[in-house]
Amino acid sequence: LAQVDVDISQVAEGQSITAKWRGKPIFIRQRTPKEIEEGKAVDLSALKDPIARNANLPPDAPATDPNRAAPGQEKWLVMVGVCTHLGCIPLGQSGDYDGWYCPCHGSSYDTAGRIRQGPAPENMAVPLFTFATPTTIRIG
Ligand code: FES
Repeated sequence: LAQVDVDISQVAEGQSITAKWRGKPIFIRQRTPKEIEEGKAVDLSALKDPIARNANLPPDAPATDPNRAAPGQEKWLVMVGVCTHLGCIPLGQSGDYDGWYCPCHGSSYDTAGRIRQGPAPENMAVPLFTFATPTTIRIG
């Protein structure tokens, strides 16, 4: 399927769901205010990968917290849930940066899905998506 609609009406603050798109897991998370704050507080010079990796933005957009989140809806994070090292599926809300942890070789991602530690070279990818309705995310 080129596009997939995902109902997010049941995803409360601090919760995530995993959708499927083009055979890949898509993590959709409603971040907490604390997670957003942590994401914004990061100095971009501390990032291993300074590029947003967001298919909705220009390819050189910087990896600021807003550039990783849904436009105008910073609480929503939508990402391809695949570790950028060798493709394992990271575990949510674990690791040293309150984000995701990939148990295969120990990569830690932060609350905006940016790689912070370990062998993974890039931030987790943000796919093309829009809000089809206020509670429906259309991926692709
Ligand atoms: Fe995730 Fe290697 S596949 S750290």
